[in-house]
Amino acid sequence: MAIDIWECALGFMDAQILLTAEELGIFTLLEERPQTAEALARATGLPQDSATRLLTALCALGLVVKGTDGCFCNGPEASQMLVPGKPGYIGTMFHHLREDLYPLWGFFKETLVEGTAQWQRAFRGQPPPTEEMYSDPERLQAFMDGMHAISYGPALEFARAAPELSNVRTIVDVGGASGAFVIALAQVFPGLRGVVVDLPQVRPITEAYAARASLDGRITFHAADFFHDPLPQDADAYALGYILHDWSTEQGSRLLARVAEAAPSGALLIVAEYLLADDRSGPLFVARSDLNMMVAARGRERTAREYMDWIARFGFRTERVQPTHADKQFIIARKT
Ligand SMILES: C[S@@+](CC[C@H](N)C(=O)[O-])C[C@H]1O[C@@H](n2cnc3c(N)ncnc32)[C@H](O)[C@@H]1O
Repeated sequence: MAIDIWECALGFMDAQILLTAEELGIFTLLEERPQTAEALARATGLPQDSATRLLTALCALGLVVKGTDGCFCNGPEASQMLVPGKPGYIGTMFHHLREDLYPLWGFFKETLVEGTAQWQRAFRGQPPPTEEMYSDPERLQAFMDGMHAISYGPALEFARAAPELSNVRTIVDVGGASGAFVIALAQVFPGLRGVVVDLPQVRPITEAYAARASLDGRITFHAADFFHDPLPQDADAYALGYILHDWSTEQGSRLLARVAEAAPSGALLIVAEYLLADDRSGPLFVARSDLNMMVAARGRERTAREYMDWIARFGFRTERVQPTHADKQFIIARKT
């Protein structure tokens, strides 16, 4: 595979250009109407020289397009994914990328050498932002909106191709956040009820998403710390979406043991994660996420085989693995 080494080396600049332009509201302004650099400078409060130079870079990246009249407008991807309120909007995740991950990646070498996340160095002894956000409703909402944006589409794609779910009456989504997964499932299977287990601060967010989905009370919230509080017992199915990769193998094993204890025999376990290739040669998106798990959490990405062997130790036999277009893959297992 040919690789442009300069593109790779300078990628951190592209990330700042994109994240900062989104923070300044450039894509929102351009979606309202095509605008000149002068108008955008006035609207964003940037000096005109800065606005002009930023727009040149955004054009070169293909994010915006300059017309012959000198006005800029959003390119198709920016219009679809960078404008708040659009179904494909991913900007809710950008605050987390900019404020949490960017500083942490500044200590990447230290992370590799010490094998642990560098919260103390990056945030000068403050608690990690991923813990602090639970006392800041606005940040929590932004994080959950971001998770929803990346999780709802794959969940819907999975649900439409998962006949095993047609017999499921109740599914418990452990660490279910906004409810993206169970909402998508309940939309496809009219007889299905979803229970979202998450920390108590998440309740209003999940309940608001569930209310907007108009699912006649079929989505409920169960406040619990999944490491310490009782999990709902005897459901037909349990889900762990982007949960196991956040934690060390020891912590993940504690959680799997608790799920195994709650699940009756014959219950489904659905593990939704990015998967590394069996030979660990990639893919890049997952290899990057694996390192990010070291930089920002205590976890790691794993291969399908590693997940299958891991959950088998807790009595879950894998029946199949369903990929989706969005890299999230679904391991479907059953309690023996
Ligand atoms: C990475 S998000 C995954 C969200 C969702 N499952 C998905 O696939 O999009 C992790 C979720 O686990 C929740 N969580 C973290 N620690 C928890 C704990 N100790 N008990 C319950 N929920 C927890 C977080 O609040 C968050 O909603």
